[in-house]
Amino acid sequence: MNVLVVGGGGREHAIIKKLKENPSVKTIYAVPGNGGIAADAVCVPSIGAKDIGKIVDFAKSHSIGFAVVAPDDPLALGCVDRLHEAGVPCFGPDAKAARIEASKVFSKNLMKKYGIPTARYEVFDDPAKALTYLKTASFPIVVKADGLALGKGVLIPRNLAEAEDAVKSIMEDKAFGDSGDEIVIEEFLTGPEVSVLAFTDGTAIVPMVSSMDHKRAGDGDTGLNTGGMGTIAPNPCYTPEAARTCMETIFLPTLAAMRAEGCPFKGCLYFGLMLTPDGPKVIEYNCRFGDPETQVVLPLLKTDLLTVMQAVENETLGDLQVEWHSGAAACVILASGGYPGGYEKGKEITIPQGLPVTVYHAGDALAEDGTLVTSGGRVLGVTAVGGTLQAALETAYAAAEHIHFEGKYLRHDIGRRALAELEKQALCAAEG
Ligand code: AMP
Ligand code: GLY
Repeated sequence: MNVLVVGGGGREHAIIKKLKENPSVKTIYAVPGNGGIAADAVCVPSIGAKDIGKIVDFAKSHSIGFAVVAPDDPLALGCVDRLHEAGVPCFGPDAKAARIEASKVFSKNLMKKYGIPTARYEVFDDPAKALTYLKTASFPIVVKADGLALGKGVLIPRNLAEAEDAVKSIMEDKAFGDSGDEIVIEEFLTGPEVSVLAFTDGTAIVPMVSSMDHKRAGDGDTGLNTGGMGTIAPNPCYTPEAARTCMETIFLPTLAAMRAEGCPFKGCLYFGLMLTPDGPKVIEYNCRFGDPETQVVLPLLKTDLLTVMQAVENETLGDLQVEWHSGAAACVILASGGYPGGYEKGKEITIPQGLPVTVYHAGDALAEDGTLVTSGGRVLGVTAVGGTLQAALETAYAAAEHIHFEGKYLRHDIGRRALAELEKQALCAAEG
């Protein structure tokens, strides 16, 4: 079977490597793919992930038996709807269901209507009303642009002056474009954050191994927000008890709510959760695999990925036993110096053979002479799997030392909070 994967980052590379394990998969095409993905799939750089018409034509002319649409933009633009119309089975939500990520106003209203725990909030389409509301608010507070903003549309002002600036920059200066026509202002929650990706066919749900992202650019969670500088899985804060509560109060109610609204969700639903003193609450939903969460979650999947994705598409997920490897995974992102601000591109990348890790390529390209060069902010994700989180982290960091490109930047404390949590849990168990 020929498989098409839409997207061209580290997440897509992780999906492709996993799909390749299925012997019935003949050729995998990546649209557009990237320099490193070209070692595992046939890349089609002339078609962008948002070129829906071209993607559908390509699928038809290349006998695609299954398509995976990974990024948020094509999902929100209806790529899955159009592929289905053309008779191509695929993995991913349709445009109506993708609103769970594409519109924060939609997802917040959904949670309110169906009693799913989340931060208290107000919606504004008029900056003057938002500014009046802020005068009586308490701080810090959270200001979110309604639409997709590359994960950057969230500001957390600490006082009234900063909050006024946030509203003006999103709604008046359009710092995130049209995604800021409406905003959500919500209560600031505290507690450990957990990412839970889940396979769902609209009714059955299979949560994957939990994970923890590290969104800020600098060590100690300092600096600007990024797309994610590293991940670990499983997330030790996500105890079996928290998992049970989330299933009952968040996961199943969310699926039921989407069905009741006439837009059942099929694909990978990403729950961004905060384990607050009042119980788990939803910070955000994403309508897709997380990046770089996928780079630690899929390596721990034991069951064949294509089989799971086909069960989602065929709505038979409830009949499938999905299994996971024990142990832990860690992914350290190697970024271009300057990211998430400006950075140079075109730096030659060297990766020695035989490293005991999997290198997922996120932002690179093949130069005319065939050398691999940097082309994006997040360049590579170095993932190691180990019996323990400590072992996985040591392997990933040791390998990262041997991979080179000019200006290479990485955080040195990926997993540190998770290790501290594990230590705390071990102490509690010993005291018993
Ligand atoms: P989002 O894009 O909605 O995931 O938000 C990005 C980041 O902002 C999250 O990962 C949280 O760290 C933080 N954040 C979002 N909403 C809240 C909230 N209500 N309270 C505290 N932190 C938040
Ligand atoms: N790592 C966060 C995301 O994929 O949205």
